[in-house]
Amino acid sequence: MRLILCHCNGLISIPDLDFGPDIKIEWYDDLCKEGIKIGEGEKVVIAGCSPSLMEGLFPDADAEFVNLKDHIVLMNHPLEKAKELLRAAIEKAKTGPEIKKKTFAIKSRSAAVIGSGVAGLDLTKALTGAGIKTYLIEKEPFLGGTVAKLDRLYPEATPWSHTVLPLISIVVKNKDVEIFTSSEITDIKGEIGNYNIQIKIKPRGVIECNNCGTCVSVCPITVQDNGRVRKAIYTSNTYPNIYAIDFNACNKCGECVKVCPKKIDLNEKERIVNINAGTIAVATGLKFYDLTKVEEYGYGRYPNVMNVLEFERKVADGSLVPKKVVFVCCAGSRDKNHLPYCSRICCFLALKEAKLVIDRYPDTRIFVCAIDMRSYGNFEYFYDTLRELGVTFVKGKPSEVVRKNGNLVVKVEDLYTNELLEIDADTVVLSSGFVPDKETFDKLGIKTYGDFPVYFESGKLGNIEMPRGIFIAGSSSFPAGVAETLVDSRKSAFSIINLLQKDSIESNQPIAYVNEDYCSVCKTCISACPYNAIMIENEKIKIRSDLCMGCGICASACPAAASRLEKFTAKEISAWIRNLTKSGDIIALLCKWSAYNATETAAYTNVHYPENVKILRVPCSGAVEPNHIIQALNLGARGVLIGGCYPNACHYAKGNFRARAREQILKETLDLLGLSKKYIRLEWIGKDEAKKFEKIINEMNQA
Ligand code: FES
Repeated sequence: MRLILCHCNGLISIPDLDFGPDIKIEWYDDLCKEGIKIGEGEKVVIAGCSPSLMEGLFPDADAEFVNLKDHIVLMNHPLEKAKELLRAAIEKAKTGPEIKKKTFAIKSRSAAVIGSGVAGLDLTKALTGAGIKTYLIEKEPFLGGTVAKLDRLYPEATPWSHTVLPLISIVVKNKDVEIFTSSEITDIKGEIGNYNIQIKIKPRGVIECNNCGTCVSVCPITVQDNGRVRKAIYTSNTYPNIYAIDFNACNKCGECVKVCPKKIDLNEKERIVNINAGTIAVATGLKFYDLTKVEEYGYGRYPNVMNVLEFERKVADGSLVPKKVVFVCCAGSRDKNHLPYCSRICCFLALKEAKLVIDRYPDTRIFVCAIDMRSYGNFEYFYDTLRELGVTFVKGKPSEVVRKNGNLVVKVEDLYTNELLEIDADTVVLSSGFVPDKETFDKLGIKTYGDFPVYFESGKLGNIEMPRGIFIAGSSSFPAGVAETLVDSRKSAFSIINLLQKDSIESNQPIAYVNEDYCSVCKTCISACPYNAIMIENEKIKIRSDLCMGCGICASACPAAASRLEKFTAKEISAWIRNLTKSGDIIALLCKWSAYNATETAAYTNVHYPENVKILRVPCSGAVEPNHIIQALNLGARGVLIGGCYPNACHYAKGNFRARAREQILKETLDLLGLSKKYIRLEWIGKDEAKKFEKIINEMNQA
């Protein structure tokens, strides 16, 4: 095995190194610049500066890293300790099984895009433009999403059609696109590069159509559709140019069938089709929060209380000519009883609707009530314009909307004057918060934090944002206006094109595996895994290598030691502890995302901790096993420190909370063994908290 050491430009030098004939010692002046070759999967020990840097330099190596610069030289610790660290790393490397290379073949060069709003259309345009076969899956009978229902986009007031129709016309004529309307994904199998997707196509009812519209004139059912009234059989001005029946409303009276010169089938059956795609993009956008839940505003009780989309459509088609309107911002958002978060675009939607009214009916009296107007960037100019046009802004969130003498009355406290206002109006518009399509996230196993997806979890698959190779495009990932949605969908398009042009993705990053000889299928690992990467297949535990992020939480939770993490097996850690621990030492097992970095910060900020601290970089505090701690204490360590990320900052969701739970059990075990509880400390340590680390170590040394 090679022991590769870096002088770090004259900073590090250790004379008389000898670890036996099997260890070939190589010194380099500056590993960052020397361009040395390490074979793919070759087991080596690399000693120099920060492992984070070295990992980037040698991504394919199966390497143990020793941070001599920060942990020895800049700490002024003796070179004997350096030799001990090197010895322990060598023994750890010798003990561990070879890390297995994971290869994910990109078997299918096609993509499935869910959602045909502006993000889905723009994404499909980009993908098909790059020659990628794209399946566009839309749950509604027509393409276009919410934007196609609007009158205009802000702040330039361009009609929706300027943005959406050109996209639709480019997409539908491309030979590489296959469009499924009235469709949803019902099953998904496979992994990145090779997804088998089952799609359910709901009946449209209209089989052949010449757009004569006779069916509409005889249909007896009217439907309220986002501020418009339509019939149960209806069309849209997007695509496809063929009517559809809304079977949620249709009573199957058959009047349309009688007058249709073409073909309507009220008993059309749903169909199932299967497609194969290398990747999936979720572009399902946002939904309005259900305003009937915000009971105090009377949505659903008072006809003239409406959301922004309903208002926009009614004003745009002339069915509503308001004389006095009150806009209520943050309806159902920034409220722990509803949506705790700011939906970011609702302030502008209120401003946009106010401008729509002023443009058509300049005499309309307009009030906008907002806790604070969140007009970031250029939108501030739009906000200024509306103030100049005479819109009255009230700082405050209305407490209630009531009806008095046939009029609506909005009760609000003006926070500037502390006055309780009662503003009467003929129309109240609720600018509500937004929620993403969680149903689709659940179907695809997309992890969320709150309502929105957690992404940028890059790691083992390089620049693929999502571990499964599933992408989130546009406002599905965060509340966004059209411009931001387009920017985001183009970013996803770039990543997808980049992915699908490869033959395979390879990774040497450590992941978990199961030793079936020890596994009793107790399923503890399944509930411990934060990524839903563990499942049962043929009555055995299976860990999906495309989903596993290498946190090691399953391994530390496994009662039978059957689940293991590559490079962090019990044998390897045990070898490290055995070869390093001396009486009176403090063994510090530090999360590589936070606490470990504090020790590097110490080196650069002149913070010095004593030499009896031996540091091991671990993937997550949740990966530390009780056995390791007990072994270190048995070897005479005066204490074991587990350093993790702060609550809610764990890179792997809840690994640090698992560590906290385990700490309690361990302390009880130590009690039973007659050892003092004070030997163990679990601490949250941020990457810049060198002083905190030093303080903890000093306290442990004095305990
Ligand atoms: Fe730091 Fe989990 S990643 S404690």
